[in-house]
Amino acid sequence: MSSPLLEVLDLKVYFRVRGSLFAKVKAVDNVSLKVFKGETLGIVGESGCGKTTLGKTILLLNKPTSGKILFEGLDVVKLKGRKLLEFRRNAQMVFQDPHTSLNPRMTIAETLLEPLREHKVQLNDYEEYLIKEMESVGLGSEHLYRYPHELSGGQKQRVAILRAIILRPKLIVLDEPTSALDVSVQAQILELLRDLQRNHNLTYVFISHDISVVKYMSNRIAVMYLGKIVEIGNSQKLYEKPLHPYSVMLLSSIPIPDPLVSRSRKKVIPQGEPPSPINPPPGCRFHPRCPYTMDICKTKEPPLTEVEPGYYVACWLYAHG
Ligand SMILES: Nc1ncnc2c1ncn2[C@@H]1O[C@H](COP(=O)(O)OP(=O)(O)OP(=O)(O)O)[C@@H](O)[C@H]1O
Ligand code: SF4
Ligand SMILES: [Mg+2]
Repeated sequence: MSSPLLEVLDLKVYFRVRGSLFAKVKAVDNVSLKVFKGETLGIVGESGCGKTTLGKTILLLNKPTSGKILFEGLDVVKLKGRKLLEFRRNAQMVFQDPHTSLNPRMTIAETLLEPLREHKVQLNDYEEYLIKEMESVGLGSEHLYRYPHELSGGQKQRVAILRAIILRPKLIVLDEPTSALDVSVQAQILELLRDLQRNHNLTYVFISHDISVVKYMSNRIAVMYLGKIVEIGNSQKLYEKPLHPYSVMLLSSIPIPDPLVSRSRKKVIPQGEPPSPINPPPGCRFHPRCPYTMDICKTKEPPLTEVEPGYYVACWLYAHG
């Protein structure tokens, strides 16, 4: 595998709880991961497990509480001036809902020109350039001077994607980029993202609660539970034979069209709701819901252990105490 474009080391993102002096939401808690050049790393997990917080913090849209974020080897938290601007140009985000991520008072042309002006990109003919760029994401030139409300959900998301790639970044964090769209256009947007990745040599962090979509898009998958990564590795392997009991639970809750796979996959019934990230359970955070809980799980946190090259699981069933 190529060298990592992004490396996250022991990242913590804690939020203050309103009305409390001491309570904190541990949205991301000691996360370490690498994202390699040209790959898609999928991040999956239930609502509230910290996916968006992790994605936004990687791009410095949230302040990390502690830990390091290395982009091409440089600690981005410490970047200033020209280097910080360069990082911002190279690392972009696409949000879930294009209805709220696009400014309703700006035409599509103004929306697309904004990043070009901010980063002082000089072009001979802006209009001609924008028309070509619009074509590359499947939008006709007739949309250029329209406002977001005049576009469909899918067209708006194409604009949001184009705004993210117009500066030709290296890394894009895609936060549930198809969840707000009609089912009929979701597949088209996923195809577009794959084409753009190939054409522009992009690296993606692809966030979704839908593991089938994540599997379709990703080379590797990280499963998050209550602010932590519990399993990370090759997407095919994780999808077909998840090791962590939580991943098994996530995968057993989706309909599986392939009868061969479904026969080998045991249905695990989830026990209860995810606990609060304000006061997570001691030991393994999944222990109150896990069907395999042992004594050690209640007191000692399982380390993320390499079970085969490049494949890691945080569970006492796969580690030694
Ligand atoms: N700015 C904030 N202030 C306080 N708490 C926050 C803030 N942002 C997120 N949180 C909390 O952090 C935790 C993780 O939230 P996050 O939005 O990252 O989860 P998620 O996995 O993206 O969920 P979803 O699938 O619903 O989008 C939640 O408990 C959330 O309430
Ligand atoms: S460490 Fe224990 S409680 Fe946690 S997932 Fe593994 S077996 Fe279940
Ligand atoms: Mg989210």
